[in-house]
Order: sequence, then structure tokens, then C-alpha cells
Amino acid sequence: MSHHHGMTFLHGIQAMCKHDTTHEGRFGRMFPNLPPCYTHPSTLQALGKKGGPMDGGLGRNPTTTIPMGMVFFGQFIDHDITLDTTSSLDRVNDADATQNFRTPSLDLDCIYGAGPEASNYLYRNGMHLYTAKEGTALSTQSNQHRNHDLTRTADGTAVIGDPRNDENRIVSQIQLAMINFHNHVVDHVISEHGYNANDLKKSSVRKEVYEEARQLVTWHYHWIVINEFLPVMVGQPLVNKTLGQGRKFYTRNRGYIPIEFSAAAYRFGHSLAPQKLKVQKAQTHDFELFGATLGFGFSPITDNKQVVEWEVMFDIDPANPAQRTDKLDTKLPSDLLALPFIQEGENSLATRNLLRGQSFLLPAGENMAAQMGVDQVTIDKVLNHIDTSAPGLDFSNGVPLWYYILAEAECVGKNVGNANQPGEGLGPVGGTIICETLLGLIELDSTSFMSQNRNWQPTLPSTGGPGTFTMADLLTF
Ligand code: HEM
Repeated sequence: MSHHHGMTFLHGIQAMCKHDTTHEGRFGRMFPNLPPCYTHPSTLQALGKKGGPMDGGLGRNPTTTIPMGMVFFGQFIDHDITLDTTSSLDRVNDADATQNFRTPSLDLDCIYGAGPEASNYLYRNGMHLYTAKEGTALSTQSNQHRNHDLTRTADGTAVIGDPRNDENRIVSQIQLAMINFHNHVVDHVISEHGYNANDLKKSSVRKEVYEEARQLVTWHYHWIVINEFLPVMVGQPLVNKTLGQGRKFYTRNRGYIPIEFSAAAYRFGHSLAPQKLKVQKAQTHDFELFGATLGFGFSPITDNKQVVEWEVMFDIDPANPAQRTDKLDTKLPSDLLALPFIQEGENSLATRNLLRGQSFLLPAGENMAAQMGVDQVTIDKVLNHIDTSAPGLDFSNGVPLWYYILAEAECVGKNVGNANQPGEGLGPVGGTIICETLLGLIELDSTSFMSQNRNWQPTLPSTGGPGTFTMADLLTF
């Protein structure tokens, strides 16, 4: 990164001249040859504003196929692989020079930090991770509440590998569930080896237990991403095709985060997010994701009603299917168009996404679709579906990539074999970017089962029997 430092003042121009493809731990481009699409910022603001065409209002418009928990698991995956604290909304950003603060692999560094030595404050005995139950918790918090929370400093800040995983109540509880899963796997490994308290006094034994547990956790997590998350979001046929015939557009030999993924496609989750939801079986009405009952993000558990019961998020109990997410369409929950925790600057998440994509010089959606080989009938269907009648909209230069991907999901949707399911997952452009990036990140990670042993199958107990493992199994292990 050294030569970039000396030329910081050239960033904007550099980005237009060349795309650097050599640096590890950075963003890059999947489609470096497509020209950027310029949309007047007033169009982006008119599109993304509260009360504008992307405002989904206060109600719910649920899918039939996507369990609610999947959207927050999706957010958790995102935080595992991306963190960009240096780019700016109002100047051009050079994708290749923007440092990605997360390592570009699904290595659960949001759970493990830099490991038991470098991040020792996250660990109890070099093997287990702290939760509020055993670690520090707020003195004002009752025992009952702390038993269901992340460990926190005196001012309520969660002590975790990635602060964003406390951003809303559900993702915070997923972070806790992943920590608990790791802790249970540690106990499982100890009992499999038959280690007693004396054995565990040796730091070499504890280190071995930790490493084995971390690998088991990570491999089962990758299994879920490939065999459950991706099929739900992009459809099984696309996953099979990408695995079977190889990636076509994510083709470097090192893992990286394409800007097309982080600044556009993977922000699809913002449309699936609920304005309101239930977090417990017995709750008779929905609570706002950001509201008085569930809290406004980055806050400790202060009410029994905030403790998530996983049966309402994932299909754990066949007799009681989980809630479904909102439709994947061009609408976002109204609350996300006025984010409570952004005090200064643009507070509509939709407008932020559109400005961010533009500042990273993303191409128009229809140009990317054509380059991918999507048939013209499908491209025209998406373009005709986009409503340009709202005041202030001008897409004469092309449709911003994120908006195109949402429109495509709304009118084409995921492919499930003989049919497509509009509103139930991503269409060809969004699906391909996400499928290739997540599979590429796992395949190019030298520690993953996909690179160490592609025939590996889950070894932890599962309700579906050998060769299966789901979020429901992870949460009930
Ligand atoms: C549910 C509530 C959520 C909230 C309040 C939220 C909020 C945010 C905010 C404020 C940003 C930074 C926007 C910017 O300035 O560019 C962001 C970025 C992002 N979000 Fe979300 N998000 C949520 C859920 C999700 C979900 C469910 C997904 C995906 C499944 C997702 C994917 C992303 C991605 C990929 C980025 C860019 C990350 C980066 O490159 O650093 N988000 N989100």
C-alpha cells in the first residue's frame, strides 16, 4: 500500500486511469472494463429519500420462502468480510486503494478478533469466548438480562470482534449465538478427546482445543453459507452451476471484495430488512426493529422482550415455521430511510447506498447484465419495470447498479429450476455477483474445507442426518 500513500492526492484520477489488481485485503473490481454510470445526485436523492419511490412504509410485505433470520445472518456474513471506514460519500473513491479492514475471507474474525493471544480480552481461558454471563456486564443490568447479552464495557459498548454486530438487536443476538456455538463446540472437542481438568492446565492442550473448535465452527459456517444461505437468496440452480462449472467473473487467484458486491449487490439485504418483527413466539404483535422496545442499536439488553427466540427467525420447529422477511424489491423499510444513529450528513440508507455506488464509479445495471450474457428479453423486462414517473428522476445515462439489482429481484427474482420467483431472491445480475463472490472467497481461502478437502461433510449432529447442517442445527447444538 506504500506507493498509494504517496499519491493520495491523485486518488480520483488514478481510479479512472487504472484499476490495481495486486493488493491483498482490498476491494477490487469484477468488471473493470465497464464505464461508470453517472446519475445526477438530485436523482439519487429523489429516489432514496424518505417518502420517495423506495419508501416501503411502515407495514410488512412478507416473502413466502425467506426465513427472517436469514437477513440478519446475511448482515453478519457481510460484517465478517467488509469494513470500509475510509471512503467518502462525496468524492470519487479508488476501489483498489480503499483498504478493507476485514480480512477478505469468511474467517469469523468478527467473532474471534485476532485470536486468543492478540485479542486476549475476548477470551476466557484461551479457548472460550466471553459473553456477559461470565465476562464484564453493566452493573445496572439484571442477571437475567446479562445472561442473554454480549459482554459490555461500563458505557454499554459491546466487547466484540466487530462493533457493527451490535448495530441492531437481531444481529447482536446472532453474534451472541455464534459465540455460544463456538463455546459449545469447545466443550464438544474437550469431551471427544476425553481431556480432564489436569490436561487443560497445559497451554498447548488449550491451544489445540481452540484451533480444532475454531476450524469446526468455521467449516460448519461455510457449509451453511453454501448449502443454505446462497440457495435461499439466489436459488439452488445458480449455486450448482457456479460450483459445477466454475466462476466466470470472480476469477483472480486471491480472495478480494469486488466493489460491485460491497457497494451494490450485497446491499440487497436492506430491502429484506423488516420495519417491524416479532422476536418471541408468544409476542402477539410486531415491534419496530429500531424502536422503544427492541432498542435503537448499540445498546444492552434491558427488557425480557428483547431476547430473541430462534424459532421465530429460522425454521427450527416444523410445526411453527419462522416469520418470513419482507419481499426483495425496490422498497426499504421506512425507518432505514432515516437512520436513528446517523446524526450528521445523509441519513437515508438508500441514498447513501446510491451515492456510495456512484462514488465508486459503478457501471449501469443494464450494461453489466449485457456483459454477463443475460438475455435482452430479461434486461428489457427489468428496464420496463422501473418506474421513472416520480418527480426528479432521470435515468437517461443508465440505471444505478444497486437499484437495477433490486428491480431485477422484484420482477424476475431467483431461479428455482423451471420457474423464477419474483420478490423471493436475487435475479441473474445480483445473484451472480453474490454467488461468485461468496463461493470465491471460500474457495480461495486456503484454510477452508473447499480448498483443504472438497469432499468434507459436516461432522456435528444435525436433524437432517449425515451430510447436512443448517442454521437450525447450529442454534440448537
Ligand atoms: C437491518 C438493518 C441494517 C442497517 C440499519 C444497515 C445499515 C447500514 C449502513 C448505515 C451502512 C453504511 C452505508 C454507507 O454509508 O455506505 C451499511 C452498509 C452495508 N450494508 Fe447494511 N444495514 C442493515 C442490514 C444489512 C443487511 C441485512 C445486509 C446484507 C444482507 C447489509 C449489507 C450491507 C453492505 C454490503 C454494506 C457495505 C459494507 C461495506 O462495504 O463496508 N446490511 N449498512
